[in-house]
Amino acid sequence: MTSMTDSEILTKVGAGTPMGELMRRYWLPALKSSELKADGDPVRLKLLGEQLVAFRDTSGKIGVMDHRCPHRCASLFFGRNEEGGIRCVYHGWKFDTDGNCLDMANVPPHQDFKHKVHAKAYKAQERNGLVWVYMGKADEAPALPDIFANTFPEDDCNITFAMRECNWLQGLEGDIDTSHLNFLHYGSMGSKDFEPNDPTRFGAVHRDPEYKVADTDTGTFYGAYRPAENGLTYWRIAHFMFPCWTLAPFIDFNHYRLARAWVPLDDTHMMFVMIGAKEGPSAPSGVDDLLPNTTDWLGRFRVAANKGNDFLMDREVQRTQSFTGIPGIHQQDQAVTESMGDITDHDWEHLAPSDRMITMTRRRLLMAAKALAKDGTLPPSADNPAAYATKRGGFFLAPEQRPWPDVYDAQLATIADAKSTVAAE
Ligand code: FES
Ligand SMILES: [Fe+2]
Repeated sequence: MTSMTDSEILTKVGAGTPMGELMRRYWLPALKSSELKADGDPVRLKLLGEQLVAFRDTSGKIGVMDHRCPHRCASLFFGRNEEGGIRCVYHGWKFDTDGNCLDMANVPPHQDFKHKVHAKAYKAQERNGLVWVYMGKADEAPALPDIFANTFPEDDCNITFAMRECNWLQGLEGDIDTSHLNFLHYGSMGSKDFEPNDPTRFGAVHRDPEYKVADTDTGTFYGAYRPAENGLTYWRIAHFMFPCWTLAPFIDFNHYRLARAWVPLDDTHMMFVMIGAKEGPSAPSGVDDLLPNTTDWLGRFRVAANKGNDFLMDREVQRTQSFTGIPGIHQQDQAVTESMGDITDHDWEHLAPSDRMITMTRRRLLMAAKALAKDGTLPPSADNPAAYATKRGGFFLAPEQRPWPDVYDAQLATIADAKSTVAAE
């Protein structure tokens, strides 16, 4: 580990790397529940650089395992998902979702050693439309993190997946960098282009917010602030939560139920996972067009606007209508973060005061990854799923004299008051 640079520690996620080991201490959202049907086709997926296969058995239980059969490594992707397990098509060995070998079909009963053989299976769990996978030691797995957005029933949620062809960290960092909003996404919009009551308009008045940042028990958070009107300040709050979650600030704080994960598939690909409300004031806009899924390792949830077609950029639209000429917020983010390269060269950067949250988050991640590698110190909130429950992001207006970070607690209390009033009615 000592030979790795800080940049490498932050970005490499394979087994045995400091960040890879950190990621293996948390549950990761890996699939939509709807991708797996009982006794249906196994799905290929990558996670933390490992090639995995996922399937749902006859009883509905989910198996996520290394795709290599423990006999002689034929891929279980080609397996038959039949009655309570997956059967390798090479010599017929069969495994249940926990990796137990149920049948060693090509070996006579007196030579059978199936009780000694295990497929490398990871712990998997479902909650409200999302399949979570824990890639650490199964007996060390905590409970699923109480991420607020994932506590709502699947029918009431919009769960979006979109693959991005770059390192996970640069994807995540786009979500904790509020000042790009009024360039990349709204660069051509003045304050008059927003609804008169929409506080977002103050972002167009002052495109150069100041930032406050702080550590939390789950990671870091920032408040970006600008003057508003009538003695009020316009705040945008976002969290980074270990290991790869953000609560982005583009929704009204008082209606916030959004969470976004930037899940490393390997060092140069990630899956964006967004859990939001299906409708109403907290419903986020999704991803415009996805290509049909393929069975490739990286064939799921590919965005139709991609680097092969310059993200459908239209120069005439850029000249006359939008800042980028690229249609769709997600695609605009996708274009710039992929354009930074497979893995951003951190030596090339010149971080500014607007990047304070990025600097602080990198530092927190580095400290946690190094401490885990050095003496096994458990990273933040890995054993505290409840710590995630109360975190919120979003924008709001507050009296300008209210100091940071009290302004956040005061706004949280407003929501709690509103909720208890509703409950009492
Ligand atoms: S390789 Fe799978 S049963 Fe032989
Ligand atoms: Fe963005």
